[in-house]
Amino acid sequence: MNMENLTALIKPHSTIDKDDIHVSKEIVDRTVWDKLAIENPTHAVISAKDEESEAEKSVEQIADIMGHLNENDVLLDLGAGYGRVAKHLLPKKKLGGYVGVDSSYEMLSLFKRRYDQSSDEQKTPVFFLNADIHTLPLKDNSIDVVIVCAVFLHNHKSVVANAMAEIRRVVKPGGRVLVYSSFPRFATFMGLQGQVYQALLNLLGRPFKNGPVRYYSRREVNRLFQDFAEVELKPVGFTILPKTLIFLPGFLEVIYRVGLANPLNKILEIITPAFVKPYFAVHYDVVAKL
Ligand SMILES: C[S@@+](CC[C@H](N)C(=O)[O-])C[C@H]1O[C@@H](n2cnc3c(N)ncnc32)[C@H](O)[C@@H]1O
Repeated sequence: MNMENLTALIKPHSTIDKDDIHVSKEIVDRTVWDKLAIENPTHAVISAKDEESEAEKSVEQIADIMGHLNENDVLLDLGAGYGRVAKHLLPKKKLGGYVGVDSSYEMLSLFKRRYDQSSDEQKTPVFFLNADIHTLPLKDNSIDVVIVCAVFLHNHKSVVANAMAEIRRVVKPGGRVLVYSSFPRFATFMGLQGQVYQALLNLLGRPFKNGPVRYYSRREVNRLFQDFAEVELKPVGFTILPKTLIFLPGFLEVIYRVGLANPLNKILEIITPAFVKPYFAVHYDVVAKL
């Protein structure tokens, strides 16, 4: 068989040629974070345009995480990305250990490269683990605290359910789980659009595609934490108009977002009474204890 015949065995348009290695488009989809890590990691991870805005956007979250940590805790950062949390947390708090898990090798490489240069972070030993959140190569009862920041929403709900089972397995009794920006609320206009998008993907036979955000009801989140001894759901943010209309073409979408949705949502947030705001929250953060 020559090369032409061999190539003919491959389904049309199903692979991408990378230096004569043929990468299945399924894999390309799964490693979309690798591409983002090379292009613009801070923007991909926290929509920050530079290091200053990344630090600013991280302040509150880092303070909150610190409030849940003891000195000798082993912390598991699920979907650690380039290690934004470690970058801001570890110089302030020495831990027993830090396990950074990510399915993107490129993201973890950025994390490790910075860590290797940062004596402040190195006071805590960090283990870099290139793995999926729902199949963790970690021993049972090995972790004190888990953090998940902006990760679940990018995964199919079945993956998240399996990841939660893994979390329950690896966390010690009495351990804590902190979930940030990972459960966008279903009962919002963004949530409705997201449902339509997911339904379309289901129809196209691509339910697991990376890209659509997955939205949750309060009941769904509570169900994921049903085996925990304590669970607190915190409504965060405020939105009435959807921040984007996903089916609009590029330039109209920008006009809608910048010219209409952002300013109007800001005004509505100012004039809405505090006790009504939780009904218009963007997402739920979760603090749970096993
Ligand atoms: C938006 S970034 C958040 C990074 C980090 N948690 C933070 O807040 O700075 C999402 C990260 O989750 C990782 N990720 C997404 N799905 C994953 C999965 N199923 N298993 C492991 N990592 C995943 C991506 O590779 C990416 O680095």
